[in-house]
Amino acid sequence: MTLQQLAGVALPVIQAPMAGAQAGAMTIAVSNAGALGSLPCAMLGVEAMRSELVAIKVQTAKPFNVNFFCHAQPPPDAKREAAWRASLAAYYQAFGIDANSIPTGPGRLPFSSEAANILAEFKPAVVSFHFGLPSTELLALVKSWGSKIFASATTVDEAHWLEARGVDAIIAQGLEAGGHRGNFLSEDLTTQVGTLALLPQILRAVRLPVIAAGGIADAKGVAAALALGAAGVQIGTAYLLCPEATINAVHRAALKSETARHTALTNVFTGRPARGIVNRIMRELGPMNTAAPAFPLATSAIAPLRAKAESQGSDDFSPLWCGQNASGCKEVPAAQLTRELAGV
Ligand SMILES: Cc1cc2nc3c(=O)[nH]c(=O)nc-3n(C[C@H](O)[C@H](O)[C@H](O)COP(=O)(O)O)c2cc1C
Repeated sequence: MTLQQLAGVALPVIQAPMAGAQAGAMTIAVSNAGALGSLPCAMLGVEAMRSELVAIKVQTAKPFNVNFFCHAQPPPDAKREAAWRASLAAYYQAFGIDANSIPTGPGRLPFSSEAANILAEFKPAVVSFHFGLPSTELLALVKSWGSKIFASATTVDEAHWLEARGVDAIIAQGLEAGGHRGNFLSEDLTTQVGTLALLPQILRAVRLPVIAAGGIADAKGVAAALALGAAGVQIGTAYLLCPEATINAVHRAALKSETARHTALTNVFTGRPARGIVNRIMRELGPMNTAAPAFPLATSAIAPLRAKAESQGSDDFSPLWCGQNASGCKEVPAAQLTRELAGV
């Protein structure tokens, strides 16, 4: 089954949900252009989520996707947090930040029954999950109103796991992808492979439609993924320079510069490996650091450094999420980019 049949859209393209980088305006533009726009909810409180969904419903009658993270929230670990803050001490000192005054916060929130209750009012065509799936009860609830369930797999094992739990489509997320790796069965990064290696293996292993994600940035890339048997594609990085993206000036500048050719997986910003453009903090403390607090708790300690540096126009402490292929980033409206990617 194709993405078009599964989600009721005209084009085989999903605009990847990108928490912190876009909200409903991009969802609306892409869905109205005939592809599947996505609303990422990992960094939205439930009220913000509701107002985005209201705006989407007002401005499009087309199908759209609502996306959530499904991580288990780790218990706070004061010792680990203190050790991590100690490794950031020199930076705090340079910016005049009192390390004891930094609040700890949840960072990113997993899917919850509160979010499900709001979702029930809107019944989106597709609900997608990253880092596994929610509880059996919550998953059944989402399915009960007819939303199709999509979920990310980064290995064949994860694809099998998702198929056994009744998802409608699998998003095969290759190693090229920007943002967080969706791996959830193993933390061993040697299991993570590129899209061209992952997609055919997952297609052979499961009977479900498989969406290709990671490194796809132009119409030829889309056609290649479809030729390999993908039901559709999910594209994130290419949308980051569209006017609908909400990333800040330092992120935009980095994406437009030569430095966007240098990306790595890093856990220093959130605690989980995610692909971003290499910057000072990644070079000096990472890109992977075993002392970083568990996801998403690592978010707090960096936040004040990021804020101070960005206020001075510096991206030294910012997560500059970006995939390995930024060549498709264009400063054009998301609707136009969508049509170009789909070759129409
Ligand atoms: C800035 C950014 C934020 C992302 N946030 C999310 C997210 O909130 N939920 C999710 O499922 N995937 C997220 N992803 C991963 C995308 O779903 C997708 O796997 C990836 O963008 C595809 O690879 P590409 O960036 O090379 O196109 C994000 C990616 C980027 C670039």
